[in-house]
Amino acid sequence: MSNQRDQWSSSLGFVLAAAGSAVGLGNLWKFPYITWDNQGGGFVLVYLACILLVGMPVMMAEIIIGRHTQESPVPAFEKAAKNLPLEKFWPIVGWLGVIAGLVILSFYAVVAGWSISSFYYCIKWSTSGYVTGDVKFGEFVGNAPLQLGLTLAFSLLTAFIVTRGIAGGIEKATKVLMPVLLSILVLLTLNSFTLDGAGQALAFIFTPSPMKDGEHGFLEALGHAFFTLSLGMGAMITYGSYMGKKESILKASAAIVLLDTLIALMASFIMFTILFSFPSVVEKMGKSTAGMLFVTLPEMFYTEMPFGSIIAPIFYILVGFAALSSTISLLEVVVSLFVDKLKWSRIKATAVSSGVIFAFSVLCALSNGASAWLSNFKLFGNADSGLMYSLNKTFFANKAGFMNAFDHLSANWLLPVGGFFITLFVGWVFPAKVAADELGMLDEQGNPNKLFKTVQFLLRFIAPVAIGYIIAKVMLGTDFA
Ligand code: TRP
Repeated sequence: MSNQRDQWSSSLGFVLAAAGSAVGLGNLWKFPYITWDNQGGGFVLVYLACILLVGMPVMMAEIIIGRHTQESPVPAFEKAAKNLPLEKFWPIVGWLGVIAGLVILSFYAVVAGWSISSFYYCIKWSTSGYVTGDVKFGEFVGNAPLQLGLTLAFSLLTAFIVTRGIAGGIEKATKVLMPVLLSILVLLTLNSFTLDGAGQALAFIFTPSPMKDGEHGFLEALGHAFFTLSLGMGAMITYGSYMGKKESILKASAAIVLLDTLIALMASFIMFTILFSFPSVVEKMGKSTAGMLFVTLPEMFYTEMPFGSIIAPIFYILVGFAALSSTISLLEVVVSLFVDKLKWSRIKATAVSSGVIFAFSVLCALSNGASAWLSNFKLFGNADSGLMYSLNKTFFANKAGFMNAFDHLSANWLLPVGGFFITLFVGWVFPAKVAADELGMLDEQGNPNKLFKTVQFLLRFIAPVAIGYIIAKVMLGTDFA
Protein backbone atom coordinates (compact mmCIF):
# COMPACT_ATOMS: atom_id res chain seq x y z
CA MET A 1 0.00 0.00 0.00
CA SER A 2 2.88 2.35 0.71
CA ASN A 3 4.19 2.14 -2.83
CA GLN A 4 0.83 2.91 -4.29
CA ARG A 5 -0.97 4.98 -1.73
CA ASP A 6 -4.65 5.57 -1.77
CA GLN A 7 -5.90 9.04 -0.94
CA TRP A 8 -9.19 10.19 0.42
CA SER A 9 -11.14 11.58 -2.48
CA SER A 10 -11.95 14.84 -0.71
CA SER A 11 -11.44 16.76 2.49
CA LEU A 12 -14.92 15.76 3.55
CA GLY A 13 -13.93 12.16 2.87
CA PHE A 14 -11.09 12.37 5.33
CA VAL A 15 -13.16 14.10 7.98
CA LEU A 16 -15.94 11.57 7.69
CA ALA A 17 -13.65 8.56 7.69
CA ALA A 18 -11.69 9.89 10.66
CA ALA A 19 -14.95 10.77 12.37
CA GLY A 20 -16.11 7.26 11.52
CA SER A 21 -13.09 5.95 13.38
CA ALA A 22 -13.66 8.30 16.30
CA VAL A 23 -17.41 7.84 16.61
CA GLY A 24 -18.14 4.35 17.76
CA LEU A 25 -18.88 2.29 20.81
CA GLY A 26 -16.79 4.76 22.78
CA ASN A 27 -19.51 7.35 22.27
CA LEU A 28 -22.64 5.25 22.23
CA TRP A 29 -21.78 2.49 24.68
CA LYS A 30 -18.87 3.47 26.87
CA PHE A 31 -19.20 7.19 27.52
CA PRO A 32 -22.77 7.00 28.86
CA TYR A 33 -22.02 4.19 31.28
CA ILE A 34 -18.72 5.51 32.60
CA THR A 35 -20.37 8.91 33.06
CA TRP A 36 -23.16 7.19 34.98
CA ASP A 37 -20.66 5.23 37.08
CA ASN A 38 -18.67 8.38 37.83
CA GLN A 39 -21.75 10.35 38.88
CA GLY A 40 -22.11 12.70 35.97
CA GLY A 41 -21.24 16.40 35.90
CA GLY A 42 -17.79 16.53 37.47
CA PHE A 43 -16.58 13.71 35.31
CA VAL A 44 -18.04 15.30 32.18
CA LEU A 45 -16.29 18.58 32.94
CA VAL A 46 -12.92 16.88 33.38
CA TYR A 47 -13.55 14.88 30.23
CA LEU A 48 -14.33 18.01 28.19
CA ALA A 49 -11.17 19.68 29.48
CA CYS A 50 -9.15 16.61 28.43
CA ILE A 51 -10.71 16.67 24.97
CA LEU A 52 -9.91 20.32 24.44
CA LEU A 53 -6.49 20.63 26.04
CA VAL A 54 -5.06 17.19 25.31
CA GLY A 55 -7.19 15.45 22.68
CA MET A 56 -7.27 18.24 20.14
CA PRO A 57 -3.48 18.89 20.17
CA VAL A 58 -2.66 15.16 20.02
CA MET A 59 -5.08 14.78 17.13
CA MET A 60 -3.25 17.48 15.20
CA ALA A 61 0.12 16.00 16.11
CA GLU A 62 -0.86 12.56 14.79
CA ILE A 63 -2.23 13.93 11.55
CA ILE A 64 0.90 16.05 11.06
CA ILE A 65 3.14 12.99 11.37
CA GLY A 66 0.91 10.90 9.13
CA ARG A 67 0.45 13.40 6.36
CA HIS A 68 4.04 14.56 6.38
CA THR A 69 5.50 11.07 6.07
CA GLN A 70 2.65 9.37 4.18
CA GLU A 71 3.44 6.24 6.14
CA SER A 72 1.83 4.00 8.75
CA PRO A 73 2.96 4.60 12.37
CA VAL A 74 6.23 2.64 12.68
CA PRO A 75 7.80 3.74 9.38
CA ALA A 76 6.25 7.17 9.94
CA PHE A 77 8.26 7.60 13.12
CA GLU A 78 11.37 6.18 11.45
CA LYS A 79 11.07 8.71 8.68
CA ALA A 80 10.03 11.68 10.81
CA ALA A 81 12.73 11.10 13.43
CA LYS A 82 15.57 10.58 10.99
CA ASN A 83 18.73 12.37 12.24
CA LEU A 84 16.83 13.83 15.17
CA PRO A 85 17.46 13.21 18.89
CA LEU A 86 16.53 9.71 20.12
CA GLU A 87 16.10 8.60 16.53
CA LYS A 88 15.87 4.93 17.50
CA PHE A 89 13.37 5.47 20.29
CA TRP A 90 10.44 7.04 18.46
CA PRO A 91 9.50 4.08 16.27
CA ILE A 92 8.88 2.15 19.50
CA VAL A 93 5.93 4.49 20.04
CA GLY A 94 4.57 3.15 16.77
CA TRP A 95 5.00 -0.43 17.96
CA LEU A 96 3.28 0.39 21.22
CA GLY A 97 0.35 1.59 19.17
CA VAL A 98 0.14 -1.68 17.33
CA ILE A 99 -0.06 -3.51 20.62
CA ALA A 100 -2.76 -1.13 21.83
CA GLY A 101 -4.67 -1.79 18.61
CA LEU A 102 -4.53 -5.51 19.17
CA VAL A 103 -5.69 -5.19 22.74
CA ILE A 104 -8.52 -2.77 21.98
CA LEU A 105 -9.82 -4.67 19.00
CA SER A 106 -10.00 -7.92 20.91
CA PHE A 107 -12.62 -6.61 23.35
CA TYR A 108 -14.18 -4.09 21.01
CA ALA A 109 -15.27 -6.85 18.63
CA VAL A 110 -17.16 -8.53 21.48
CA VAL A 111 -19.23 -5.44 22.27
CA ALA A 112 -19.69 -4.72 18.58
CA GLY A 113 -21.18 -8.20 18.28
CA TRP A 114 -23.87 -7.21 20.79
CA SER A 115 -25.25 -4.74 18.26
CA ILE A 116 -25.99 -7.64 15.93
CA SER A 117 -28.11 -9.37 18.54
CA SER A 118 -29.86 -6.14 19.49
CA PHE A 119 -30.80 -5.76 15.87
CA TYR A 120 -32.18 -9.27 15.88
CA TYR A 121 -34.24 -8.59 19.00
CA CYS A 122 -35.60 -5.36 17.55
CA ILE A 123 -36.80 -7.16 14.47
CA LYS A 124 -38.50 -9.67 16.73
CA TRP A 125 -40.09 -6.98 18.91
CA SER A 126 -41.15 -4.87 15.96
CA THR A 127 -42.93 -7.80 14.38
CA SER A 128 -44.39 -9.61 17.39
CA GLY A 129 -44.55 -7.02 20.16
CA TYR A 130 -42.15 -5.67 22.75
CA VAL A 131 -41.60 -7.58 25.98
CA THR A 132 -40.01 -5.61 28.83
CA GLY A 133 -37.17 -7.59 30.33
CA ASP A 134 -37.01 -9.97 27.38
CA VAL A 135 -33.25 -9.69 27.30
CA LYS A 136 -31.56 -10.49 30.57
CA PHE A 137 -28.20 -8.89 30.08
CA GLY A 138 -26.37 -11.17 32.48
CA GLU A 139 -27.65 -14.29 30.77
CA PHE A 140 -26.96 -12.87 27.36
CA VAL A 141 -23.32 -12.00 27.96
CA GLY A 142 -22.80 -15.28 29.82
CA ASN A 143 -23.93 -17.40 26.88
CA ALA A 144 -20.66 -18.76 25.49
CA PRO A 145 -21.66 -20.03 22.03
CA LEU A 146 -23.71 -16.93 21.35
CA GLN A 147 -20.93 -14.57 22.42
CA LEU A 148 -18.34 -16.43 20.39
CA GLY A 149 -20.57 -16.52 17.33
CA LEU A 150 -21.38 -12.82 17.44
CA THR A 151 -17.75 -11.88 17.97
CA LEU A 152 -16.62 -14.11 15.15
CA ALA A 153 -19.21 -12.64 12.80
CA PHE A 154 -18.12 -9.12 13.56
CA SER A 155 -14.43 -9.94 13.28
CA LEU A 156 -14.91 -11.53 9.88
CA LEU A 157 -16.83 -8.51 8.66
CA THR A 158 -14.05 -6.18 9.78
CA ALA A 159 -11.35 -8.32 8.21
CA PHE A 160 -13.26 -8.54 4.95
CA ILE A 161 -13.54 -4.77 4.60
CA VAL A 162 -9.91 -4.16 5.50
CA THR A 163 -8.78 -6.52 2.73
CA ARG A 164 -10.63 -4.26 0.31
CA GLY A 165 -8.51 -1.17 1.03
CA ILE A 166 -9.09 2.40 2.01
CA ALA A 167 -10.83 4.94 -0.14
CA GLY A 168 -13.28 2.71 -1.93
CA GLY A 169 -14.75 0.84 1.00
CA ILE A 170 -14.32 2.81 4.17
CA GLU A 171 -14.83 6.24 2.73
CA LYS A 172 -17.90 5.37 0.71
CA ALA A 173 -19.63 3.63 3.58
CA THR A 174 -19.00 6.30 6.20
CA LYS A 175 -20.15 9.06 3.86
CA VAL A 176 -23.64 7.66 3.92
CA LEU A 177 -23.78 6.15 7.37
CA MET A 178 -22.48 8.98 9.51
CA PRO A 179 -25.14 11.49 8.44
CA VAL A 180 -27.89 8.90 8.94
CA LEU A 181 -26.60 8.04 12.40
CA LEU A 182 -26.45 11.70 13.32
CA SER A 183 -30.00 12.31 12.11
CA ILE A 184 -31.41 9.43 14.14
CA LEU A 185 -29.59 10.62 17.23
CA VAL A 186 -31.04 14.10 16.75
CA LEU A 187 -34.51 12.55 16.45
CA LEU A 188 -33.99 10.57 19.64
CA THR A 189 -32.70 13.67 21.41
CA LEU A 190 -35.77 15.69 20.41
CA ASN A 191 -38.00 12.86 21.52
CA SER A 192 -36.21 12.71 24.87
CA PHE A 193 -37.25 16.28 25.61
CA THR A 194 -40.86 15.11 25.74
CA LEU A 195 -40.10 12.78 28.66
CA ASP A 196 -40.26 13.73 32.35
CA GLY A 197 -36.67 12.85 33.13
CA ALA A 198 -35.12 15.23 30.57
CA GLY A 199 -34.44 18.05 33.04
CA GLN A 200 -32.90 15.69 35.54
CA ALA A 201 -30.73 14.14 32.86
CA LEU A 202 -29.41 17.52 31.75
CA ALA A 203 -28.70 18.49 35.34
CA PHE A 204 -26.91 15.19 35.91
CA ILE A 205 -24.66 15.73 32.90
CA PHE A 206 -23.94 19.42 33.29
CA THR A 207 -23.87 20.11 37.04
CA PRO A 208 -20.26 19.62 38.16
CA SER A 209 -20.70 17.18 41.02
CA PRO A 210 -17.73 15.48 42.68
CA MET A 211 -16.62 12.08 41.41
CA LYS A 212 -16.74 9.08 43.70
CA ASP A 213 -13.11 8.17 43.11
CA GLY A 214 -11.44 11.38 41.96
CA GLU A 215 -8.02 10.00 41.14
CA HIS A 216 -9.16 7.18 38.94
CA GLY A 217 -11.97 9.36 37.62
CA PHE A 218 -9.38 11.76 36.22
CA LEU A 219 -7.44 8.95 34.62
CA GLU A 220 -10.62 7.47 33.23
CA ALA A 221 -11.68 10.81 31.73
CA LEU A 222 -8.27 11.31 30.16
CA GLY A 223 -8.13 7.74 28.91
CA HIS A 224 -11.56 8.01 27.45
CA ALA A 225 -10.64 11.24 25.66
CA PHE A 226 -7.95 9.23 23.87
CA PHE A 227 -10.19 6.26 23.27
CA THR A 228 -13.11 8.18 21.88
CA LEU A 229 -10.97 10.27 19.53
CA SER A 230 -8.99 7.21 18.36
CA LEU A 231 -5.75 8.76 19.62
CA GLY A 232 -2.53 7.52 21.14
CA MET A 233 -1.93 4.48 18.97
CA GLY A 234 -1.34 5.91 15.54
CA ALA A 235 -4.78 5.43 14.01
CA MET A 236 -4.84 9.11 13.07
CA ILE A 237 -1.26 8.86 11.82
CA THR A 238 -2.46 6.11 9.51
CA TYR A 239 -5.58 7.95 8.36
CA GLY A 240 -3.65 11.22 8.07
CA SER A 241 -1.20 9.49 5.76
CA TYR A 242 -3.96 9.20 3.20
CA MET A 243 -4.89 12.88 3.47
CA GLY A 244 -4.28 15.29 0.60
CA LYS A 245 -1.69 18.04 1.09
CA LYS A 246 -4.08 20.90 0.55
CA GLU A 247 -6.55 20.10 3.33
CA SER A 248 -6.51 22.02 6.60
CA ILE A 249 -5.47 19.83 9.50
CA LEU A 250 -6.79 22.36 12.02
CA LYS A 251 -10.26 22.49 10.52
CA ALA A 252 -10.45 18.74 10.04
CA SER A 253 -9.38 18.09 13.64
CA ALA A 254 -11.86 20.60 15.00
CA ALA A 255 -14.69 19.05 13.01
CA ILE A 256 -13.87 15.53 14.18
CA VAL A 257 -13.55 16.55 17.81
CA LEU A 258 -16.78 18.52 17.73
CA LEU A 259 -18.77 15.77 16.07
CA ASP A 260 -17.43 13.13 18.40
CA THR A 261 -18.20 15.15 21.52
CA LEU A 262 -21.65 16.10 20.35
CA ILE A 263 -22.57 12.49 19.66
CA ALA A 264 -21.28 11.28 23.03
CA LEU A 265 -23.28 13.95 24.86
CA MET A 266 -26.43 13.23 22.89
CA ALA A 267 -26.16 9.50 23.55
CA SER A 268 -25.77 10.13 27.27
CA PHE A 269 -28.65 12.56 27.40
CA ILE A 270 -30.91 10.09 25.63
CA MET A 271 -30.04 7.22 27.93
CA PHE A 272 -30.12 9.17 31.18
CA THR A 273 -33.48 10.64 30.27
CA ILE A 274 -34.86 7.12 30.09
CA LEU A 275 -33.20 6.15 33.35
CA PHE A 276 -34.62 9.18 35.15
CA SER A 277 -38.04 8.82 33.57
CA PHE A 278 -38.43 5.14 34.43
CA PRO A 279 -36.86 4.28 37.79
CA SER A 280 -37.73 0.63 37.27
CA VAL A 281 -35.24 0.52 34.41
CA VAL A 282 -32.50 1.60 36.79
CA GLU A 283 -33.43 -1.18 39.17
CA LYS A 284 -33.33 -3.74 36.42
CA MET A 285 -30.02 -2.45 35.16
CA GLY A 286 -28.50 -2.77 38.63
CA LYS A 287 -24.73 -2.82 38.55
CA SER A 288 -24.44 -3.97 34.96
CA THR A 289 -24.36 -0.43 33.59
CA ALA A 290 -22.33 -1.71 30.64
CA GLY A 291 -25.59 -3.04 29.22
CA MET A 292 -27.14 0.42 29.07
CA LEU A 293 -27.02 0.87 25.31
CA PHE A 294 -28.40 -2.56 24.63
CA VAL A 295 -30.97 -2.94 27.39
CA THR A 296 -32.11 0.52 28.45
CA LEU A 297 -32.60 2.11 25.10
CA PRO A 298 -35.13 -0.37 23.64
CA GLU A 299 -37.44 0.67 26.49
CA MET A 300 -37.66 4.14 24.96
CA PHE A 301 -37.98 2.95 21.40
CA TYR A 302 -40.82 0.59 22.11
CA THR A 303 -42.77 2.33 24.84
CA GLU A 304 -42.18 6.06 24.47
CA MET A 305 -41.38 6.94 20.92
CA PRO A 306 -43.60 7.50 17.93
CA PHE A 307 -42.48 5.14 15.16
CA GLY A 308 -40.02 3.66 17.63
CA SER A 309 -40.57 0.15 16.36
CA ILE A 310 -39.43 1.26 12.91
CA ILE A 311 -36.52 3.35 14.11
CA ALA A 312 -35.18 0.80 16.64
CA PRO A 313 -33.86 -1.82 14.21
CA ILE A 314 -32.39 0.91 12.01
CA PHE A 315 -30.68 2.40 15.03
CA TYR A 316 -28.93 -0.85 15.95
CA ILE A 317 -27.76 -1.36 12.40
CA LEU A 318 -26.19 2.08 12.69
CA VAL A 319 -24.59 1.21 16.02
CA GLY A 320 -23.11 -1.79 14.25
CA PHE A 321 -21.81 0.40 11.44
CA ALA A 322 -20.42 3.00 13.85
CA ALA A 323 -18.56 0.15 15.53
CA LEU A 324 -17.46 -1.21 12.18
CA SER A 325 -15.93 2.05 10.97
CA SER A 326 -13.96 2.01 14.23
CA THR A 327 -12.85 -1.63 14.13
CA ILE A 328 -11.69 -1.07 10.57
CA SER A 329 -9.40 1.74 11.69
CA LEU A 330 -8.03 -0.37 14.52
CA LEU A 331 -7.27 -3.32 12.28
CA GLU A 332 -5.89 -1.04 9.56
CA VAL A 333 -3.11 0.13 11.90
CA VAL A 334 -1.98 -3.44 12.53
CA VAL A 335 -2.38 -4.58 8.93
CA SER A 336 -0.60 -1.59 7.39
CA LEU A 337 2.39 -2.31 9.62
CA PHE A 338 2.69 -5.89 8.37
CA VAL A 339 2.27 -4.69 4.81
CA ASP A 340 4.84 -1.90 5.12
CA LYS A 341 7.45 -3.59 7.33
CA LEU A 342 7.22 -7.25 6.43
CA LYS A 343 6.07 -6.70 2.83
CA TRP A 344 3.21 -9.12 3.33
CA SER A 345 0.26 -9.00 0.98
CA ARG A 346 -2.79 -7.22 2.34
CA ILE A 347 -4.73 -10.46 2.48
CA LYS A 348 -2.06 -12.35 4.37
CA ALA A 349 -1.51 -9.46 6.78
CA THR A 350 -5.23 -9.22 7.46
CA ALA A 351 -5.67 -12.97 7.94
CA VAL A 352 -2.77 -13.31 10.35
CA SER A 353 -3.55 -10.25 12.45
CA SER A 354 -7.28 -10.99 12.62
CA GLY A 355 -6.49 -14.56 13.66
CA VAL A 356 -4.26 -13.45 16.52
CA ILE A 357 -6.73 -10.82 17.64
CA PHE A 358 -9.61 -13.28 17.54
CA ALA A 359 -7.73 -15.60 19.88
CA PHE A 360 -7.73 -12.79 22.44
CA SER A 361 -11.32 -11.94 21.60
CA VAL A 362 -12.29 -15.45 22.68
CA LEU A 363 -10.86 -14.77 26.12
CA CYS A 364 -12.74 -11.46 26.28
CA ALA A 365 -16.00 -12.93 25.01
CA LEU A 366 -15.97 -15.58 27.72
CA SER A 367 -15.09 -13.20 30.53
CA ASN A 368 -18.55 -11.77 31.18
CA GLY A 369 -19.96 -14.80 32.92
CA ALA A 370 -19.36 -17.69 30.55
CA SER A 371 -16.12 -18.71 32.20
CA ALA A 372 -15.83 -18.08 35.93
CA TRP A 373 -12.05 -18.00 35.78
CA LEU A 374 -11.90 -15.44 32.99
CA SER A 375 -14.71 -13.40 34.53
CA ASN A 376 -12.89 -13.05 37.85
CA PHE A 377 -9.48 -12.73 36.28
CA LYS A 378 -7.11 -10.25 37.88
CA LEU A 379 -3.61 -10.06 36.50
CA PHE A 380 -2.04 -9.67 39.91
CA GLY A 381 -4.19 -12.19 41.73
CA ASN A 382 -7.05 -11.79 44.19
CA ALA A 383 -5.27 -10.61 47.32
CA ASP A 384 -7.07 -7.77 49.08
CA SER A 385 -4.03 -6.00 50.44
CA GLY A 386 -0.30 -5.78 49.82
CA LEU A 387 1.76 -5.23 46.71
CA MET A 388 -0.30 -7.39 44.36
CA TYR A 389 -3.45 -5.63 45.47
CA SER A 390 -1.82 -2.24 44.87
CA LEU A 391 -0.80 -3.27 41.39
CA ASN A 392 -4.36 -4.36 40.58
CA LYS A 393 -5.68 -1.10 41.96
CA THR A 394 -3.21 1.10 40.11
CA PHE A 395 -3.26 -0.54 36.74
CA PHE A 396 -6.78 -1.93 36.58
CA ALA A 397 -8.70 0.16 39.13
CA ASN A 398 -9.29 -3.22 40.74
CA LYS A 399 -11.67 -4.29 37.98
CA ALA A 400 -12.10 -8.01 37.54
CA GLY A 401 -12.50 -9.97 34.32
CA PHE A 402 -10.33 -10.38 31.27
CA MET A 403 -12.31 -8.01 29.07
CA ASN A 404 -12.44 -5.29 31.72
CA ALA A 405 -8.72 -5.66 32.26
CA PHE A 406 -8.01 -5.29 28.54
CA ASP A 407 -10.32 -2.31 28.29
CA HIS A 408 -8.78 -0.59 31.28
CA LEU A 409 -5.21 -1.36 30.32
CA SER A 410 -5.54 -0.05 26.78
CA ALA A 411 -7.73 2.98 27.31
CA ASN A 412 -6.26 4.20 30.56
CA TRP A 413 -2.61 3.29 30.12
CA LEU A 414 -1.46 2.39 26.63
CA LEU A 415 -3.24 5.24 24.86
CA PRO A 416 -2.30 8.06 27.25
CA VAL A 417 1.31 6.86 27.30
CA GLY A 418 1.36 6.69 23.51
CA GLY A 419 -0.21 10.14 23.30
CA PHE A 420 2.34 11.49 25.78
CA PHE A 421 5.22 10.55 23.51
CA ILE A 422 3.43 11.74 20.38
CA THR A 423 2.98 15.26 21.79
CA LEU A 424 6.55 15.32 23.06
CA PHE A 425 7.79 14.28 19.65
CA VAL A 426 5.87 16.84 17.66
CA GLY A 427 6.26 19.55 20.31
CA TRP A 428 9.98 19.22 21.02
CA VAL A 429 11.73 17.02 18.46
CA PHE A 430 10.03 17.44 15.11
CA PRO A 431 11.11 20.64 13.29
CA ALA A 432 8.66 23.42 14.15
CA LYS A 433 8.78 24.89 10.67
CA VAL A 434 7.74 21.64 9.03
CA ALA A 435 4.92 21.18 11.54
CA ALA A 436 3.77 24.77 10.99
CA ASP A 437 3.90 24.22 7.26
CA GLU A 438 1.74 21.08 7.55
CA LEU A 439 -0.73 23.12 9.56
CA GLY A 440 -0.67 25.98 7.07
CA MET A 441 0.57 28.25 9.84
CA LEU A 442 3.53 30.03 8.25
CA ASP A 443 3.61 33.81 7.86
CA GLU A 444 4.79 35.66 4.74
CA GLN A 445 8.44 35.35 5.73
CA GLY A 446 7.99 31.60 6.05
CA ASN A 447 8.15 31.58 9.84
CA PRO A 448 5.67 29.88 12.17
CA ASN A 449 2.86 32.34 12.97
CA LYS A 450 1.12 33.26 16.23
CA LEU A 451 -1.52 30.59 15.98
CA PHE A 452 1.19 27.98 15.62
CA LYS A 453 2.83 29.26 18.78
CA THR A 454 -0.40 28.51 20.62
CA VAL A 455 -0.60 25.00 19.18
CA GLN A 456 3.06 24.49 20.02
CA PHE A 457 2.48 25.62 23.59
CA LEU A 458 -0.29 23.06 23.97
CA LEU A 459 1.89 20.34 22.48
CA ARG A 460 4.99 21.21 24.47
CA PHE A 461 3.55 21.97 27.86
CA ILE A 462 -0.15 21.63 28.46
CA ALA A 463 -0.78 18.19 26.94
CA PRO A 464 2.32 16.35 28.22
CA VAL A 465 2.13 17.95 31.65
CA ALA A 466 -1.55 17.07 32.02
CA ILE A 467 -0.98 13.48 30.94
CA GLY A 468 2.17 13.13 33.03
CA TYR A 469 0.49 14.67 36.05
CA ILE A 470 -2.53 12.40 35.98
CA ILE A 471 -0.46 9.28 35.42
CA ALA A 472 1.98 10.23 38.17
CA LYS A 473 -0.85 11.02 40.55
CA VAL A 474 -2.47 7.64 40.07
CA MET A 475 0.86 5.83 40.39
CA LEU A 476 1.98 7.76 43.45
CA GLY A 477 -1.45 7.76 45.05
CA THR A 478 -1.22 4.02 45.37
CA ASP A 479 0.58 2.51 48.29
CA PHE A 480 2.86 -0.08 46.74
CA ALA A 481 4.03 -1.42 50.08
N1 TRP B 1 -12.77 5.85 18.83
C1 TRP B 1 -13.48 4.62 18.72
C2 TRP B 1 -14.69 4.69 19.61
O1 TRP B 1 -14.87 5.63 20.34
C3 TRP B 1 -12.62 3.43 19.02
C4 TRP B 1 -11.38 3.42 18.24
C5 TRP B 1 -11.26 3.25 16.92
C6 TRP B 1 -10.08 3.66 18.71
N2 TRP B 1 -9.97 3.35 16.54
C7 TRP B 1 -9.23 3.62 17.60
C8 TRP B 1 -9.59 3.92 19.94
C9 TRP B 1 -7.89 3.84 17.75
C10 TRP B 1 -8.23 4.14 20.09
C11 TRP B 1 -7.40 4.13 19.01
O2 TRP B 1 -15.50 3.81 19.61
